[in-house]
Amino acid sequence: MGFNTEDFQAKPTIAILNTWSDVNNCHTHFRDRAEEVKRGVWQAGGFPLEIPVMSLSESFMKPTSMYYRNLLALEVEETLRCYPVDGAVLMGGCDKTVPALIMGATSANIPSIFLPAGPMLKGCWKGETLGSGTDMWKYWAERQAGNLCEDSWNELEDGIARSPGHCMTMGTASTMTAIAEVLGLCLPGSTSIPAVHSTHARMASSVGRRIVDLAWDKITPRDLLTEDAFHNAVVTDMALGGSTNAIIHLIAMAGRAGVSLTLDDFDRISQDVKVIANIRPCGEHVMEDFYDAGGILGLLSQIRSLLRLDAPTVSGETLGKNIEGAEVFDDDVIRPIDRPVGKAGGTYVLRGNLAPDGAVIKPTAAEPGLLEHSGPAVVFSDYADLKARIHDESLGLTADHIIVLQNAGPIGAPGIPEWGMLPIPNYLLKQGVRDMLRISDARMSGTSYGACVLHVAPESAVGGPLALVEDGDTIRVSIENRELHLDVSDEELARRKESWEPKESPYRRGYGRLYADEITQANEGCDFRFLHSGPDTPEPDIF
Ligand code: FES
Repeated sequence: MGFNTEDFQAKPTIAILNTWSDVNNCHTHFRDRAEEVKRGVWQAGGFPLEIPVMSLSESFMKPTSMYYRNLLALEVEETLRCYPVDGAVLMGGCDKTVPALIMGATSANIPSIFLPAGPMLKGCWKGETLGSGTDMWKYWAERQAGNLCEDSWNELEDGIARSPGHCMTMGTASTMTAIAEVLGLCLPGSTSIPAVHSTHARMASSVGRRIVDLAWDKITPRDLLTEDAFHNAVVTDMALGGSTNAIIHLIAMAGRAGVSLTLDDFDRISQDVKVIANIRPCGEHVMEDFYDAGGILGLLSQIRSLLRLDAPTVSGETLGKNIEGAEVFDDDVIRPIDRPVGKAGGTYVLRGNLAPDGAVIKPTAAEPGLLEHSGPAVVFSDYADLKARIHDESLGLTADHIIVLQNAGPIGAPGIPEWGMLPIPNYLLKQGVRDMLRISDARMSGTSYGACVLHVAPESAVGGPLALVEDGDTIRVSIENRELHLDVSDEELARRKESWEPKESPYRRGYGRLYADEITQANEGCDFRFLHSGPDTPEPDIF
């Protein structure tokens, strides 16, 4: 390798786990950042080794990057276990890379610090700001309604992703990196820095210097990921109007840390915290504006009274100390708590006979008129059925119908893909309809919007009540009462259940088989059962 003994002897060895890949557009700056981290590690007296790990590219993976979150987590855990490593820098940002890296490092429990990719620059088209995902969904509906030509569509595509970095709306990436910081795993303020700012490069070197100290001090993820840290993460998620995906990831991350976190915790906290980040899809701005307005530290300063400030962080200071002196420079982007973005909180948990183990909805991203709604169901048995029939005018759907998609959950799809923003029929789009109530056991992208009830558990593929819904059944959704009710008698549901049969998994071998056998439901975090916290894995004795 060309190293002298002096290069590594009596120095902490720092693994820089890099999720760079040619196929991951969000991480194209990570080769540079890895060098900047190394510079910091050398300066602080450590020995850096860059180790590539699987890159989960949100835009290009099939069936969904979520299917591979646990595989990356497993790779990270075993990479940190098998090599002689004293500390780790976790380089991620694109959606599932964030929870995966943290889950793996938590299970390995080696001193670690998270280096966020940072959001990309804001998009632009004809003088209008474009937000990742959110504006693509918006203009796709216009395209389907016949209001946008091919050339304009191509211009939009050229203008929406103009630099390295993750999606710059409050999608899963921006939500999960902010959460990583609030959990105590990042340098203060680092997660809001746009990917291409020179500040981002300087932050990377600071991360390199800091991990050497953490390695000497043996401060591990499980020292930081306490019940208080997860409380702070859920509060922040609600104030951000964060991605619904954050619920699944946080439950899985807590499971790795041995902390109990359930949908009831989200439900309880969501009743006290309103959205104050005016960022798309719940609000108007994008992440570059959020950074300029004071970033995550500015936001945390607004919700200070709701946080447990003694939680420790990788900075060596408490969360409270980290946000001391933080300011908000634009109170339209980061609102004070008495002037929230909307009346509703970030993510609501719904329960009822259609979702005994819970479902979620993001009310601030929905048409307000649909938040108390009942209507007839139109049911699609799987995604192929949805694609084949949704635009068929003979179905005669109206804006009052409730679109139901079955078999899109962790096992049914598989991988609980982001199909939950179910398409509105083209003929209704042409009539001006832009939102409808939609229910599925799928997830939706954090950049998506609409009255979409997601993560219905148990999922239909394991015989959850969603599998028993039929065309014309009345469904009632009440955000006020946090209720999801199927207006069919228990006797009738029992009769339907008797004739229901599970589909056999097509996966007989390999990762698909492992996934089908071990995946848990959405309300349990979709982790593999055997990766939950438990007794420490013994270190192999090689001598
Ligand atoms: Fe990577 Fe959105 S595509 S974060």
